[in-house]
Amino acid sequence: MATTPVNREEPLKLGLRNLWYPLATSSELKDRPLGIRALGEELVLWRDDNGRPHVMQDRCPHRDTRLSLGAVVQGALTCPYHHFQFNTEGQCIAIPSEGGACEATKRFRVPTYPAQERMGLIWGYIGDVDLFPPPRLELAEELESPYWTGFLQTAIWRTNWLRVYDNLSDPMHGVFLHAKSYTLSRGSRTDRMRVRELPDGFAVEREGQRGVNFDWVEIHNTGTLWCRLDIPYPKSAGPGPALRIVGFVTPLDEHRTRVYFFRWRKVQGWQRTLWRTLYKAFLEYNHWRVLEQDRVALEAQRGIESRLHEKLVQADVGVVRMRRFLQQELQRQRAIYARAAAEARAASADEARPTVPAPVETPAP
Ligand SMILES: [Fe+2]
Repeated sequence: MATTPVNREEPLKLGLRNLWYPLATSSELKDRPLGIRALGEELVLWRDDNGRPHVMQDRCPHRDTRLSLGAVVQGALTCPYHHFQFNTEGQCIAIPSEGGACEATKRFRVPTYPAQERMGLIWGYIGDVDLFPPPRLELAEELESPYWTGFLQTAIWRTNWLRVYDNLSDPMHGVFLHAKSYTLSRGSRTDRMRVRELPDGFAVEREGQRGVNFDWVEIHNTGTLWCRLDIPYPKSAGPGPALRIVGFVTPLDEHRTRVYFFRWRKVQGWQRTLWRTLYKAFLEYNHWRVLEQDRVALEAQRGIESRLHEKLVQADVGVVRMRRFLQQELQRQRAIYARAAAEARAASADEARPTVPAPVETPAP
């Protein structure tokens, strides 16, 4: 009997909550609030008087306009419409039409998310902190190592974020899609792929080739989802080891995704200067061309529901593991949400139950 396919990705299409995500670059967030989207939500990013970043929902609880159209006044996020002011916890602290700080402010609070600034990026923990306390944000060690240096490439693609992770967990596409590129045309076009488990994720590797092309990738969950891969450089790219790419993927909504790729290299001294110069003069342009090849291929795919009709081959073993990886985390979170909902239901049933008076004993005649 034919069965109706089930789209298990449906609950994931706006993103996986309870993780840290890069939301903007540090240089995009200046003195003015910045309105963005992430995981389908409208968010406002802003800096307090100490320059610390904050992430809140981008709606004024008074009459609904976007707080990101307002300003930061004396360290408080100020709505453009009636100048209601909100502190870094999202609590309203002043309503000018009511005389400023007054009793009525207690009724107004904007939901907030934990925020921090690392690696030139503004990070937000898009999660439900009561059930999922924010984990420490662990980044790939090479990103903050003084022995490494590099550049960030970031772009918005008109595709669902799950498509981007499909692409990243599929090293086999390199030798085909990127065949006409500076670094990715070399090596065999036929191979088998294997998956190797890691403590916080997994690696996808070509069985018959390493150190030639985009031959392996690692996917990690360390409080944020990220990938790591190496692209061996030809001699003309100057001295030094392979180019390391560490990538982060932020779903904006169902149809748009922002990618952040650190192009990183372990080089010091004059080699570092040479690599940085070559990158700006020549390599960066080539990297953008490769990224554009990915963008065009991904944007040409249809909506995420069309994956129900795809037919996979052995080389897609990483794609399959990636999807299971996300499903495993989704199911873990759903169990916690379900338990909390059951406990809340039990507590409210207890409250609603009438108190039965103790039976009065009648003395025997
Ligand atoms: Fe690619």
